Amino acid sequence: MDDKKENGKLKIRNIKNGISIDHIAAGRAPEVLKILGIDGGFRDSVTIAMNVKSSKMREKDIVKVENRDLDVSEINKISVIAPQATINWIQDYQVVRKEKVKLPDELVGIVECPNPSCITNKEREPVKSIFLVKNTSPVVLVCKYCEREIDSLY
Ligand SMILES: Nc1ncnc2c1ncn2[C@@H]1O[C@H](COP(=O)(O)OP(=O)(O)OP(=O)(O)O)[C@@H](O)[C@H]1O
Ligand SMILES: [Mg+2]
Ligand SMILES: [Zn+2]
Repeated sequence: MDDKKENGKLKIRNIKNGISIDHIAAGRAPEVLKILGIDGGFRDSVTIAMNVKSSKMREKDIVKVENRDLDVSEINKISVIAPQATINWIQDYQVVRKEKVKLPDELVGIVECPNPSCITNKEREPVKSIFLVKNTSPVVLVCKYCEREIDSLY
């Protein structure tokens, strides 16, 4: 850690390369970390801010991860719990790409169906889950196979 103390304040260094996931719904940062598979074994720097004041939202969370990229599946998972999130790719300390997550119309293999007898949860030859987005704010998903609804994600 080479963070400097200035005026008694801990200054968090900008990252050279990585991602900053901004405008996450307040309180959802831990779930974003889970989606990214970041746990105690992760070695690069991770900065998390929760419930910080924002001009665009009342309060938000932010997650910054050094030396990490995101794939489409991870971005789709983030869109389910943080539909307003912005993903910023940072290279050489600069934002080189900015993308607002977008909840797709259909989520394929992203969310597990909570219905234990759903065909997508069969132990033998399970079918890949498909959820249709019934509503975006709040997010309501419906399983294409058993019609079970999920509405507590966001
Ligand atoms: N080098 C860096 N290291 C860590 N985080 C960074 C770095 N550069 C930018 N960020 C973060 O990336 C996000 C977007 O930065 P940007 O400069 O585009 O801010 P902004 O103009 O407020 O963007 P927005 O309109 O998306 O809020 C912010 O969360 C910012 O803190
Ligand atoms: Mg901003
Ligand atoms: Zn189902």
